[in-house]
Amino acid sequence: MEKRRIVSGMRPTGRIHFGHLHGALLNWKELQDDYRCFYFIADWHALTSEYARPDIIRQSTYDIIIDWISVGLDPERCTFFVQSEIKEHAELHLLLSMITPLPWLERNPTYKEQLKELTQRDVYTYGFLGYPVLQAADILMYKANGVPVGEDQAPHVELTREIARRFNNLYGKVFPEPDTLLTPTAKILGTDRRKMSKSYNNAIFLTDGDEEVDRKVMQMITDPQRKTKKDPGDPAICNVFSFHEIYTDAHTVSGIDRQCRSAEIGCVECKRIMARSLKTALEPVRAKRGELEADMKRVREIVEQGNERARAIARNTMEEVRAAIKI
Ligand code: TRP
Ligand code: SF4
Repeated sequence: MEKRRIVSGMRPTGRIHFGHLHGALLNWKELQDDYRCFYFIADWHALTSEYARPDIIRQSTYDIIIDWISVGLDPERCTFFVQSEIKEHAELHLLLSMITPLPWLERNPTYKEQLKELTQRDVYTYGFLGYPVLQAADILMYKANGVPVGEDQAPHVELTREIARRFNNLYGKVFPEPDTLLTPTAKILGTDRRKMSKSYNNAIFLTDGDEEVDRKVMQMITDPQRKTKKDPGDPAICNVFSFHEIYTDAHTVSGIDRQCRSAEIGCVECKRIMARSLKTALEPVRAKRGELEADMKRVREIVEQGNERARAIARNTMEEVRAAIKI
């Protein structure tokens, strides 16, 4: 039996950080054994808000794919592709836009939130409102059964299901309704304890060098109640400790847990240990990235192959779509 299909995308607006890693990529990696996975660079989606700075989009497309492979996503098992290379997405987006009622888009919570948040850019555009229609096209093009995303994207998958249903009702059944495969929210936060995000300037990137990791870890806000080393701390609410739980060996972690609560270890020392764990974890990623960057020809081939595979499916789907609509 053919494996069930997964589709997910990432907007290329900068480098990958630990928020992406724990909020998406490690989950993508889990799925690559059991599903037929399509992971793509959503560069047209990036353009909906970054249309004034397209150079960043082009540059980060390759940076991100290199990082995907460096953390263990396997180009043999997954199809990596670039959205704008598969022009069929634009055609499907257009056709789906005909049947998507405006109120579905206007009431979308993610849209409303972004309008408030992206104050630096003018996103009162036609393209930005249609963001979820393009996303529906991405997903339905590959007849995905599941879409691994974080909480914030769940409304978009829901909308995709509604659009698929409407299409199927109007023209005959072409699309399966995809399930949302909710990624558990990352336990780790940015260095300032807000959600990790490039725009908050609180992110630790996979490309950060050792000194940068040290510097950022030292800046991290710990248990805010703990003013001096004499105050007992609470690891349960400390972001440094969340990193420890992932990256430091269990024996050391339970020691830190105890010594933090009894005020026997200070945050500076604790951070030093954590930074060391983090740097160790980054070593193999850095080595793999170095290899790939020295062989960009291979990276381009991987993307080309992925584009080809995606394109073949997209062509088939569009033939079915045109036949269904009879136009
Ligand atoms: N909107 C998604 C995000 O910001 C990216 C995305 C675009 C996507 N198309 C998709 C995710 C299709 C899943 C499926 O993270
Ligand atoms: Fe956090 Fe470690 Fe400080 Fe405890 S000692 S508050 S776990 S940084």
